[in-house]
Amino acid sequence: MPLSLNTKYLEDFISKGEYGLISNEIKRVHKLLHHKTGVGSEFTGWLNLPSCYNKEEFIQIKETANKIKNMCDILVVIGIGGSYLGARAVIEAINSQNYNNMPKDTPDIYFIGNSISTDSICDLLKICEDKDICVNIISKSGTTTEPSIAFRVFRNLLESKYGREYNKRIFCTTDRSKGTLKEISDKEGYETFVIPDDVGGRYSVLTAVGLLPIAVSGISIDKLMLGAQKAELDFSVDEIDKNDCYKYAAIRNMLYKKGKEIEILATYEPKMSMFGEWYKQLFGESEGKDKKGIFPSSVTFSTDLHSMGQFIQDGSRNLFETVIYIESNKQEITLDKLSQDIDGLNFLAGKNISYINKKAFEGTLLAHTDGGVPNIVILIPEMNEFELGYLIYFFEKACAISAYILGVNPFNQPGVESYKKNMFALLGKPGYESEFEALSKRLK
Ligand code: PA5
Repeated sequence: MPLSLNTKYLEDFISKGEYGLISNEIKRVHKLLHHKTGVGSEFTGWLNLPSCYNKEEFIQIKETANKIKNMCDILVVIGIGGSYLGARAVIEAINSQNYNNMPKDTPDIYFIGNSISTDSICDLLKICEDKDICVNIISKSGTTTEPSIAFRVFRNLLESKYGREYNKRIFCTTDRSKGTLKEISDKEGYETFVIPDDVGGRYSVLTAVGLLPIAVSGISIDKLMLGAQKAELDFSVDEIDKNDCYKYAAIRNMLYKKGKEIEILATYEPKMSMFGEWYKQLFGESEGKDKKGIFPSSVTFSTDLHSMGQFIQDGSRNLFETVIYIESNKQEITLDKLSQDIDGLNFLAGKNISYINKKAFEGTLLAHTDGGVPNIVILIPEMNEFELGYLIYFFEKACAISAYILGVNPFNQPGVESYKKNMFALLGKPGYESEFEALSKRLK
């Protein structure tokens, strides 16, 4: 199996009988999702995406990725939230968290438009000086402020660098037919890719949103989709005993009911830290509503054992951990024996660093469960495209099922609008005049 769920470290927190108690609820929410009768069902296109994606566009993505590879030194990917996190997570998990600095024959890839920081935009402009660049602008709505601002800046850069031919270097991923970006794209003649109507931002990594930048980085998107396809099949049964994805969703909710309101996604590989960011958006935006939800957070161990470890071991007991452990590395280093044991590490001579990492994982697992933190363990034999496609689908489906158990709509994000409304009013956007005065007074 590409992934196994180990529930042994939950035994002190969830009794065997409790799994039986939630099995009917699992069947109920499975139906809501698969029969498209649950709230937000118009955004469940991701459910069958691995087996039913647009094959023609998939070929176009691969061809365009090859074209981009030959055209530029740097691909600038502009997008925020679901329009950037998935691609970045996959590129780092499969290639390296140092992808841009590694020897390679693919372009560097920089992500921008995911904040409103002048410094980060200016830094990237400097990096792009004297380099050939292409831009992939990604926005489903086509109106999101952060990417729109960055796009304006980088479109100017392209125009000044390449003149009339600048439009050949812009690749646009947006809605099929509507939105400002679609209009600009049609007018200016950019090559475009479609975000399906029934797939929301945080569920879109396996559409052109994620696949184009991922393919540019040299990753096999065929293998990624094959992994997701296997997960689609494996996690299609409604019995908790036969479906680890549903079991994980059920465990989260059982722990939540016992006061464990914070989930910490822990990995032992720094290259997985962006995957943690992707997971946080997926669960945070899907579950955190109607004054309910498990707060998703993420850590990289052993790094964060030296920062967050104290709190996890000994602080407020409202936490549980979900540990993703990758059982083998692509590369290995074996420690030498020194004639004089000056660093006191000769007891590790002959041991691989990944063996030592595994002992850190095992030691932490026991310490944290002893400290009262339930641990869900997800074991993955190795990290590759197939495994990652499988893992992405596992979390997407677990998130939808978990949100339905919680009783919220997994596919909307009404809370995100509040800051936008205030920001637009404070910026003096036409249509927000009445809010302007009231908000300005509160800031004085
Ligand atoms: O999951 C979501 O829908 C959001 O997080 C969006 O991905 C994010 O707000 C970006 O939106 P857009 O692609 O419309 O620019």
